[in-house]
Amino acid sequence: MSKLSIEGVQVASRRVLTRVDFNVPLDKEGRITDERRIRESLPTIRSIIDRRGRAILMSHLGRPSESGYEAKYSLRPAAEALSRLLGREVRFPSTDCIDAASAAAVAALKDGEVLLLENLRFHAGETSNDAAFSARLASYGEVYCNDAFGTAHRAHASMVGVPRAMMNAPRAAGLLMLGEIRYFSDILENPTRPFVAVLGGAKVSDKLAVIRRLLDIVDDVLVGGAMAYTFLSVLGRRMGRSRIEPDSLDDARAIIELAASRKADLFFPNDHVCGKEPAASTPIKVFEDHIEDGWMGLDIGPQTQRRFAQRLARAKTIMWNGPVGVFEVGPFSVGTRAIADAVADATRRGATTIIGGGDSAAAVDSFGMSDRFSHVSTGGGASLTLLEGGPMPGLDALSDA
Ligand code: 3PG
Repeated sequence: MSKLSIEGVQVASRRVLTRVDFNVPLDKEGRITDERRIRESLPTIRSIIDRRGRAILMSHLGRPSESGYEAKYSLRPAAEALSRLLGREVRFPSTDCIDAASAAAVAALKDGEVLLLENLRFHAGETSNDAAFSARLASYGEVYCNDAFGTAHRAHASMVGVPRAMMNAPRAAGLLMLGEIRYFSDILENPTRPFVAVLGGAKVSDKLAVIRRLLDIVDDVLVGGAMAYTFLSVLGRRMGRSRIEPDSLDDARAIIELAASRKADLFFPNDHVCGKEPAASTPIKVFEDHIEDGWMGLDIGPQTQRRFAQRLARAKTIMWNGPVGVFEVGPFSVGTRAIADAVADATRRGATTIIGGGDSAAAVDSFGMSDRFSHVSTGGGASLTLLEGGPMPGLDALSDA
């Protein structure tokens, strides 16, 4: 999948309407708690403004009610962070991305300047991919650029309707978008083996399609996190009060059967760090195989950590998506940390290692380890969709190279 790069487009004195993903986490006071998505967009923005292009940036933030401005979903903190990181002014003209003030600021923008529009999702037309809303946004640009990998699985106006309305303009991929796609396609299409996938997270239902596809591609699938308990209960283990998804038991059984006919081996935890509740103050007990009534599995146990680390030690390619325990709660972060250490060791040995976005990226970030892997994705849902082989409409809308 080879798309036109923004670096191959003449941008001098042109208005480059650029979709970024500044959907960053905020604390209760509205401060950004992780700026990674903003930092990762800098190469594209610099590529535009260093060549005297005019960068008009647009993004969503969170899931507002879509009926107008809501202060807690304002992109203003992102504009301020971007201005600090770029070391130059970022114009932030209005509370409405398509009002007269925004249009006037776009028209007044000079070569080498940057402007960020307010949250696209203050308009319902963004998620409904409304043609009139798309046309208003499209009128801002002479070149379209999409660097929002994290949103590439959404057929929203700024991802699909706007490039469609700019059919006669270059519709380029940004550098973050291209980098993400390259990493994922390399490992999916031409992995150096052994290729080991680690899948965790709370819900089996979120990962069914990914596991099914990976069984045809990888050599080992290591399953951790709460989703493992649904598989283990299918295998006849008693799981106490652990989180089981009754609606996914049949799917989990089907995956175990499918794995038997595929080349990949599935591995599940054989010991569990348990508590009475997912809180730091809870009593803790480690169980092998079966979990007693009243206890819930919250992390993989020490034997499982060693078994999984052994599989990872022989890997030449690793894809990790989803924490293997409740890493946000101190006593239950040990297993996820052990996986992070084993994957970081593999990177040091020369393996290609990719951390899926979302919770696993947040986990390695909380351990201060984000720079110890080949690639940490900025896309949670988008990287899962890519791994499933699902549609990526934001990518399809771009010009071919
Ligand atoms: C994400 O964080 O996964 C993307 O920004 C997409 O956000 P959404 O799930 O609200 O569409």
